[in-house]
Amino acid sequence: MQTYTYLNNQVAGPGCPELVSLLICDIKEVWSASYNMENIIEIENLIFEYISGEEHDHISRAIDGVNIAVAKGSFTAVIGRNGSGKSTLAKNINALLLPTSGTVYVKGMDTKDEKLLWDIRQTAGMVFQNPDNQLVSSVVEDDVAFGPENLGVEPAEIRKRVHESLTAVDMLDARKKAPHLLSGGQKQRIAIAGVVAMRPECIIFDEPTAMLDPKGRQEVMDIIKKLHEEGITVVLITHFMDEAAQADRVIIMDAGRIVLDGKPRDVFAHADEIRAIALDVPLAVELSEKLRSRGIDIPQGIITMEDMVEFVCQSKQRT
Ligand SMILES: Nc1ncnc2c1ncn2[C@@H]1O[C@H](COP(=O)(O)OP(=O)(O)O)[C@@H](O)[C@H]1O
Ligand SMILES: [Mg+2]
Repeated sequence: MQTYTYLNNQVAGPGCPELVSLLICDIKEVWSASYNMENIIEIENLIFEYISGEEHDHISRAIDGVNIAVAKGSFTAVIGRNGSGKSTLAKNINALLLPTSGTVYVKGMDTKDEKLLWDIRQTAGMVFQNPDNQLVSSVVEDDVAFGPENLGVEPAEIRKRVHESLTAVDMLDARKKAPHLLSGGQKQRIAIAGVVAMRPECIIFDEPTAMLDPKGRQEVMDIIKKLHEEGITVVLITHFMDEAAQADRVIIMDAGRIVLDGKPRDVFAHADEIRAIALDVPLAVELSEKLRSRGIDIPQGIITMEDMVEFVCQSKQRT
């Protein structure tokens, strides 16, 4: 039903046969890993154009032929510089935007089918960058109850879900507090609890840590990883390579297209191509390169600082 687009000629053109064959290996690996799993999101030949101008004559193509299948239970990070189409992609999954052409299925539901709008939004919840724009009530627990209330959930069930969701984001003690008195990280955790209370199978996070300080970022990343461990499919759009390195799949977008897609260690092995589209690589990848240039034998595939620490400890034991 779906095809994978793993690279385009901007990154690996006919001039780089080794790279092409390497990426084809990645394709086969990811393909076989996800082939037997149920896909919760299937995006086929998606094109999205914004139309603006007084005469509706200004067309800007934000998504330019994207194919993605997201396996149920997986943790996918999407990265790309500003304007590469990440938020447009997220909004197409959540039916906030509808394809100009192509199709987006959420658990088999076509986002163009208006009757399925609420089922789609309940299945694939969304968390945005700015927590202040997502909080609607003056008391934390009312805020978390808002989503299930709108779904028509029974009051006793709502209370249960509010309790569960606030526990999931480690914010139960703040249930009677006013959201505006909380830190950025805490507010974002409340916004996440509001989505969790709708019992989504999948959550798309659109740069949820972009406005947070390092402590808030860590808190929110810990919650995202915990939700994934509990079975929620996670799509994390992020600016931070170190966050992307913690996913089990990384998709890199540029100019509305997918340019790399695979396991983090395979994707980040293409450090030069990633830098060529004005993106950074994770700190551990950069450090590995610097150490290698000084003649220190660092294996490929070290992409998180935890990997690096483990490698250094093992090397010390060997010497
Ligand atoms: N409402 C809009 N109207 C017109 N163009 C838009 C609108 N929103 C985004 N765009 C354009 O679409 C492209 C992709 O934007 P976006 O999806 O927000 O990228 P990202 O989230 O990767 O920064 C950019 O060129 C951006 O300027
Ligand atoms: Mg964006």
